[in-house]
Amino acid sequence: MATNAKSSVAVVMGSDSDLPVMETCIDQLKDFGVNPIVRVISAHRTPDIAADFADHAAANGIQVIIAAAGMAAHLAGALAGRTQLPIIGVPLQAGSGPCGLDALLSTVQMPPGVPVASMAIGKAGAKNAAIFAIQILALADPALADKLTAFRKAQTQKVIEKDKGLQQDKK
Ligand code: RP5
Repeated sequence: MATNAKSSVAVVMGSDSDLPVMETCIDQLKDFGVNPIVRVISAHRTPDIAADFADHAAANGIQVIIAAAGMAAHLAGALAGRTQLPIIGVPLQAGSGPCGLDALLSTVQMPPGVPVASMAIGKAGAKNAAIFAIQILALADPALADKLTAFRKAQTQKVIEKDKGLQQDKK
């Protein structure tokens, strides 16, 4: 069950059109018991709100920010330029562009000194962003670290079971 009233993780996305993919991230965080703050904030359409959000994030108790955007995806970088909190970027496919590669390059190609931890494009990146945020928080949270260990074990077991099933089908 998600317990933290004042959340340590914020999931920010450039548009509500990003939400269907980012539900994967939000659901994964909730599976670990972390109920994130979820916001739609655009680096381009609401730049002042983006700046204000980044400026006050640490004081508001946020420890990790996950920032997702498509097209010229500057949200993660714009936030990273204004806060020392770790920023995890999720590039998304949007519009009629080149399959999210536009967003990937916009997210990952940060200048030296202002890092963004860029994930894969789309749902895989959304899920990994949640797990990466949990890995950061788990460094100072033994209960969360135990949940991560259990998650990894279950994931490994699932693959072993699938392989077993395949071997039996062959007989
Ligand atoms: C980006 O532009 C958003 O993150 C979204 O992926 C993309 C398109 O936005 P909408 O036109 O659907 O609002 O800033």
